[in-house]
Amino acid sequence: MKSWKKLVAVAAAGLSIISLGACAAERGGNSGGDSTSSDNLIGISMPTRSLERWNNDGEHLESLLQDKGFATSLQFADNRVDQQISQLQNMINDGADVLVIAAIDGTALSPVLQSAADAGVTVVAYDRLINRTPNVDYYATFDNELVGQMQGEFIRDSLNLDEGAGPFNIELFAGSPDDNNARFFFAGAWGVLEQYFTSGQLVSPSGNVPASLDQWTQIGIQGWSSQTAQDEMETRLNSFYTDGKTVDVVLSPNDSLAIGIAQALQSAGYSAGDSWPIITGQDADVANVQNMIDGLQAMTVWKDTRSLGAQVATMVDQIVNGQTVDVNDTETYNNGVKVVPTFLITPQVIVRDEIQGQLIDSGFIQANQLHGLN
Ligand code: BGC
Repeated sequence: MKSWKKLVAVAAAGLSIISLGACAAERGGNSGGDSTSSDNLIGISMPTRSLERWNNDGEHLESLLQDKGFATSLQFADNRVDQQISQLQNMINDGADVLVIAAIDGTALSPVLQSAADAGVTVVAYDRLINRTPNVDYYATFDNELVGQMQGEFIRDSLNLDEGAGPFNIELFAGSPDDNNARFFFAGAWGVLEQYFTSGQLVSPSGNVPASLDQWTQIGIQGWSSQTAQDEMETRLNSFYTDGKTVDVVLSPNDSLAIGIAQALQSAGYSAGDSWPIITGQDADVANVQNMIDGLQAMTVWKDTRSLGAQVATMVDQIVNGQTVDVNDTETYNNGVKVVPTFLITPQVIVRDEIQGQLIDSGFIQANQLHGLN
């Protein structure tokens, strides 16, 4: 603990119980517990409340940290970079010891992270890497390239591409150009699928195929917006599928895009059944799992946010207690300034038959959130 914080802690100890309670509430609550670390404040900065996963991530991590006795400040930033920066600055001003950040724009945080470093705050990048700054200490995430690879392999195997089947009409989508993960997702899928474009087994009637991996942002959907993905899919359907041509498969990097893409297909007259395209996804959001039950999405790559939260809570504990921090990858995630020590977790493909055994039985989704499964 920094010495001025010790002073604050000593002063706080002299205050009445009422004012201590008020202080904890302001910080987002402190359920008590380990008295040795309860004067450590952990800032949790999530990108938005508008996507299911970040609500789950934020609330779950907060409760794990509170169970360990930390005070927490959990903030969501409406997908606005300026808002995330000012929330982070406030956490630093409030004396945070550690910041856990899921960045909106992985390249926009350098100045505020400089002020974190100046204040001696340790920074953990959560799920998304923070780029172009030396002031990010650790990174915890799922294996992002593997997520995309799993989507690509699912398409390859479902269409029997290795047996020479095709040609199939495919539409490609990628994630938000400002999210470092999005490149990894596309790279993973492209590593599997590119050869089938070369062989002519996959063709994209809209022509939305990046000339090289580096140009993946051309098919990126800003802010991972469902609405933008829907609009883009509608444009492609209206412009390139007018002569009876049909879509066989859509590479969607995540569930929020898959929702919009499915909506556009339904509006264009596609319905569940044999002619419904294969659509990929990621996150196991409830609405998408429902779509899987209804035959409107073929798979999702599940990243159990509870394991990421548990890992990050352990890392925070290790940081605060001056212990060696667990990492299992010290090569892959170069942020342009340095390789950030990373803990990588393995994601998992889920198809309809696995919803009960994996998502419901593990408590990730409650049975009453879904209908028509059995
Ligand atoms: C996350 C995905 C998520 C996407 C949109 C990515 O950085 O890794 O799980 O679907 O952001 O929120």
